[in-house]
Amino acid sequence: MVMSRSRIYPLFTEEQLRVRIKEMGEQLTKDYAGHNPVVIGLLNGVFPFFADLTRAMDLDMDISFMRVSSYGGGTDSTGEVKIIHDLDKSIRGRHALIVEDIVDTGLTLHKVRNLLLDREPLSLKIVSLLDKPSRRRVEVPVDYIGYSIEDHFVVGFGLDLDGKYRNLPYVGIYNPA
Ligand code: IMP
Ligand code: MG
Repeated sequence: MVMSRSRIYPLFTEEQLRVRIKEMGEQLTKDYAGHNPVVIGLLNGVFPFFADLTRAMDLDMDISFMRVSSYGGGTDSTGEVKIIHDLDKSIRGRHALIVEDIVDTGLTLHKVRNLLLDREPLSLKIVSLLDKPSRRRVEVPVDYIGYSIEDHFVVGFGLDLDGKYRNLPYVGIYNPA
């Protein structure tokens, strides 16, 4: 597959993302005041969003990461979800917040959510920078959404195509045509 940045059309600029993520952080600061949550980042795609969001949350919190894989490469879900790296903290009796880059079919979060619910957190909510509701195959409650988008394959700001483009500072639509 030929990859080229000329195939990427900006969707959300650095400035738009900065403003929106700050708003989300302010909302979470209010909603989690006094709750000392465990904030869980789903690697790898979440890293820029996670760094900006947690720094916009004026709260005491614990931070932990989990890595799962759901994509074998290319732009289609295989439906397989494997735990590659688990949390290094217990969430039992804690308020837990999953932070994800994008919810597409919902298969990844559905599986991760059930797995974490088995560990009996006091609460478990989900925040995602992006949501593609038209692609959903299983229902999953996404409590906080940065932007709801159409069915486009997007890259940048953590999101990749076969491992590439994660470091772009904006989100763009990848057009393979
Ligand atoms: P789901 O299990 O189909 O909801 O997919 C979730 C994961 O698929 C995300 O965490 C991303 O890693 C990946 N993904 C889904 N849509 C996109 C996209 O448009 N661009 C890049 N990665 C995506
Ligand atoms: Mg991801």
